Amino acid sequence: MANSGSASGHTEHTRRDFLFIATGAAAAVGVASTLWPFISQMAPDAATVAAGAPVEIDLTPVAEGQIVKLFWRGKLVFVRHRTAAEIKSARDVDVASLPDPQPDSARVKEGKDQWLVVYGSCTHLGCVPLGNEGAFQGWQCPCHGSVFDTSGRIRQGPAPTNLPVPPYAFLSDTKIQIG
Ligand code: FES
Repeated sequence: MANSGSASGHTEHTRRDFLFIATGAAAAVGVASTLWPFISQMAPDAATVAAGAPVEIDLTPVAEGQIVKLFWRGKLVFVRHRTAAEIKSARDVDVASLPDPQPDSARVKEGKDQWLVVYGSCTHLGCVPLGNEGAFQGWQCPCHGSVFDTSGRIRQGPAPTNLPVPPYAFLSDTKIQIG
């Protein structure tokens, strides 16, 4: 078997829809920079942010269907621009049947259903779930297989609760403040 040794040689899962945003510093993007919009995080300096200051996120460059990542208070946060189908999928469910019953409407801001903001830490043991994976095309945790839907709710696997929603508010139609 040939060992090409090209690039890093790893077969890491392709996270096409993800973008990392470094809090209070220059953006750090993983791969294929031409494919990714940069989103402006109008944050105070890094030290202030580390102390827990709110951060503002410009949503304008986040295309429908895309998930971006950022850090707030040292914790990973996903901001997902949901498609109409993803919203429908999140709503077409018997809430009472869910492991951690919560309607989608309680997890998004009224009139802003297309935006889902959740912590990016699996509620089982804290791994980072992968977006657009799993039976519900929300997230799937690579560690022990927990499956989350397009509302970030646990649907299958060992995670006991939904991905939590951090405190945030819309400052305008295209800008949120987390914290
Ligand atoms: S840490 Fe996610 S399923 Fe165990």
